[in-house]
Amino acid sequence: MSKILAIESSCDETAAAVIEDEHIVLANVVATQIDVHKEYGGVIPEIASRIHIENISMVINECLKKANLKMEDIDAVAFTQGPGLIGSLHVGVQAAKTLAWAFKKPLVPVHHIAGHIYANRLVSELHFPLLALVVSGGHTELIYMKDEWSFEVLGTTQDDAIGEAFDKVGRVLGLPYPGGVYIDKLSKQGKNIYKLPKPKPEKELDFSFSGLKSGVLQFIKRMERQNETFKPEDLACSFQETAISCLLERADKALASLKVKQFVLAGGVAANSCLREHVTNDLQKKYPNVECLIPPLSCCTDNAAMIGVAGSVAYRHGVRAGFDVSADPGMDLES
Ligand code: KG4
Ligand code: ZN
Repeated sequence: MSKILAIESSCDETAAAVIEDEHIVLANVVATQIDVHKEYGGVIPEIASRIHIENISMVINECLKKANLKMEDIDAVAFTQGPGLIGSLHVGVQAAKTLAWAFKKPLVPVHHIAGHIYANRLVSELHFPLLALVVSGGHTELIYMKDEWSFEVLGTTQDDAIGEAFDKVGRVLGLPYPGGVYIDKLSKQGKNIYKLPKPKPEKELDFSFSGLKSGVLQFIKRMERQNETFKPEDLACSFQETAISCLLERADKALASLKVKQFVLAGGVAANSCLREHVTNDLQKKYPNVECLIPPLSCCTDNAAMIGVAGSVAYRHGVRAGFDVSADPGMDLES
């Protein structure tokens, strides 16, 4: 039974977790910086890395204390190597390297997206082949996993990530940062009555959200120019339904052509109630032989437990890093 200490610091959450036997969470500590970045309406990379430095030792200590373990009890140190903000990643990588060196533990590098996908392992066994829809502030990807620890990117975004579009639309609607969860809440009081642009990239499984985001901006400007009023909840709902339908259409296309055992949601936007409902009510019914997995809300946004689960699997597969390893902000999932 492995015990893996995992460290995640790719964006604005400083996080540490201990995972036993690849899926049991012994401790999971997250120090979020949202309140600081809220004031600027987005993550300021220099501030993020500085706060990571202030918090990282405290978060790791608290995590080991909660798990009632010492570093001597840990088998390996897993960490997010990339992708993410270079300054933020660097803090977690250095912490992992220092601990691994001081306590003579193996180092296991983890891709952030692999972590998001393996978050589902906290609630269910994963059965391969599977299709994963990874939707977050930095990613919108359809990933085919033929087997465990094998990743093939079938589709990706050509411009903005879906979470980024939610956050930008949130900002123009005057909602707090990050806007995704507020748009989700506001949409519940609104109706999908406005037709917004739905860009279709050439590659049928790719995504594009910048045209939709500009469509919302232009709509607001047009209303202001014409001195017309509109209900923000209707605009939020129309945006959300349009954005989510883009995800569902690509997932549907991929599921129609692939023979997979599971379809798993992953990433911060997997917390979106509209997406969750459509997956349960539409995709699951259309593909009854495919098990649709939706992670609990706590596993959707960034945390270290997901890095710990992915790290445990990588550890078993012999994935290791040397002490010369460094943060890789553009890390490739397939290599
Ligand atoms: O996975 P995550 O914590 O960080 C990245 O790896 O990017 O995802 C954060 C993103 C943000 O853009 C946030 O607005 C979005 O997830 N998000 C949501 C919801 N909850 C979080 N988007 C739509 N609906 C939600 N309920
Ligand atoms: Zn993430």
